[in-house]
Amino acid sequence: MKPELRIFKDVESLSREAADIFIEQAVMSITERDRFLVALNGGGTPNRLFQMLAMEHREKMNWSKVHVFWGDERCVPPEDAGSNYHQAKEVLLDQVFIPDENVHRVRGELDPASAAQDYAQVLKSFAEDNLGFPRFDLVYLGMGEDGHTASLFPGSTVHKIGTVIPVTANYQDRPAHRVTLTQVVFNEARMVVFMAAGEKKATTLAEVLSGRYNPDLYPAQRINPKNGRLIWLVDEDAAGRLPRELKR
Ligand code: 6PG
Repeated sequence: MKPELRIFKDVESLSREAADIFIEQAVMSITERDRFLVALNGGGTPNRLFQMLAMEHREKMNWSKVHVFWGDERCVPPEDAGSNYHQAKEVLLDQVFIPDENVHRVRGELDPASAAQDYAQVLKSFAEDNLGFPRFDLVYLGMGEDGHTASLFPGSTVHKIGTVIPVTANYQDRPAHRVTLTQVVFNEARMVVFMAAGEKKATTLAEVLSGRYNPDLYPAQRINPKNGRLIWLVDEDAAGRLPRELKR
């Protein structure tokens, strides 16, 4: 399905759109399936989204029907500042009435292989349509300047071997021990929303959205839900090198 591209003046307005999407998808999913399964991303971009959901939308949600997962996680303890779970807990989860049992973190305190195995079991308990994992109602993803998404890094072959996998990548000149979902899971989602901001991502974003299909170099290109919507929320800086025809 062709991606939907929405360009915003700044991260504030991009995050507001991302929060509106969360509410819309949640209401629809809870109405249709009595649950809302959302996978969060890490990094800096989603922080404002988390704040908005916590401060402006906390009363709009039936949080008892919301189940929070992560698209990837660093292999660090849950209280570590580098943990994607820790970031979301501090900014969002501790501020809303979501039951603890609805928060499904990757157990980053384990070794990567054990953490991946454990998480695959959690996903299995939410499986749909004989997939072995759920069709997420909403997945948020970021994109690194190198074209990675979640913890699917350029040159990595991990995408070929499964749904939830351990990754040891060399990222930003240091080993990154992670657990990540692969495109097998992401592409079964009902909706995937990328958030990308900043001029430093402009060249890569143009390659990902309008360049040759080269997913080994640009893993973000692997994401294209089979029966779902793909939405890119970008700011004007990140959109700066997109071809004119894409910006219409
Ligand atoms: C992570 C994220 C990662 C992130 C990108 C973009 O665990 O760090 O899942 O894939 O989304 O690196 O990060 P920024 O939003 O900080 O640019």
